[in-house]
Amino acid sequence: MNGLQSRHLLGLENTPAEDIQLILNTVDSFREVIDRRIKRVPTLRGITVLNLFYEPSTRTRISFELAEKRLSADTINFSTSTSSVKKGESLRDTVQNIEAMKIDMVVVRHSSPGVPYFLTQCMKSNIINAGDGAHEHPTQALLDMYTIWKKYGRLDGLRVVLIGDVMHSRVIRSNIWCLKTMGASVALGGPSTLMPKEVERFGCDVYTDIDKALDGADVVNVMRIQLERQQLGMFPSQREYTNLFGVNSGHMKLLNKNYTIMHPGPMNRGVEITSKVADSNKSVILEQVTNGQAVRMAVLYLLSGRKEEEGE
Ligand code: CP
Repeated sequence: MNGLQSRHLLGLENTPAEDIQLILNTVDSFREVIDRRIKRVPTLRGITVLNLFYEPSTRTRISFELAEKRLSADTINFSTSTSSVKKGESLRDTVQNIEAMKIDMVVVRHSSPGVPYFLTQCMKSNIINAGDGAHEHPTQALLDMYTIWKKYGRLDGLRVVLIGDVMHSRVIRSNIWCLKTMGASVALGGPSTLMPKEVERFGCDVYTDIDKALDGADVVNVMRIQLERQQLGMFPSQREYTNLFGVNSGHMKLLNKNYTIMHPGPMNRGVEITSKVADSNKSVILEQVTNGQAVRMAVLYLLSGRKEEEGE
């Protein structure tokens, strides 16, 4: 296997196991770079990356920007509030005008599912999905995979439980596709009002009782509860959500001995997870963030088509 099968990373639903494994294998060398005193390699010298964020982000945006800088790429950061989007310019015109200034790769976050695919239809650049509506967030799932893989040395056969708003979570979707492709057993837990109608399509065990969901789990990945959903009547109150689905220390006895707690952030402490669990020695939440930067370096490198010696 020489490279990835696609020149874009739009999602993980149809990404083959060989590509996922190639990305995970490539992360190790970049993980070593970010632990160095001088955290920079020439791998993407001469390549220009546009970070096109139409939605807020802390981890993903900063992580991509640092990944690009540490690979010696040139970076441009686009934000809607300071651009001509405010004057009504369309997405197509915006990206085609920026591409006319000679860019090579685009990292895009947008509230509408399918925007990364749309960009592949009107741009020549490599496109990386940094989160599109409730569709997918592939680099988040890849950093979750890498973190689990480094701890257990495998993904196949592990029982991974994803807790939260299954209907609206792009992180859950990308995790499901990736975990299942890599042979993990996936369980979903959350309120029935936040389960999509077609939940069986995912091929996961589905639980509306958190104790049953967590029973015998190796990994628990707790998702942010999107508080705006409460206004839409999808759960009665924050307190009720916490009582029924919040992950707390009492749940830890249900898990396998060598269990791991994860959360993609941003966290609502005291709502979907207690601080005691989030800050415990079984939590890898900050390790996920560190690994995320190396995962994004690996993805940028592999999609660029660069050979290591070309960047030197
Ligand atoms: N996990 C995640 O996507 O966080 P941000 O929204 O801060 O990028």
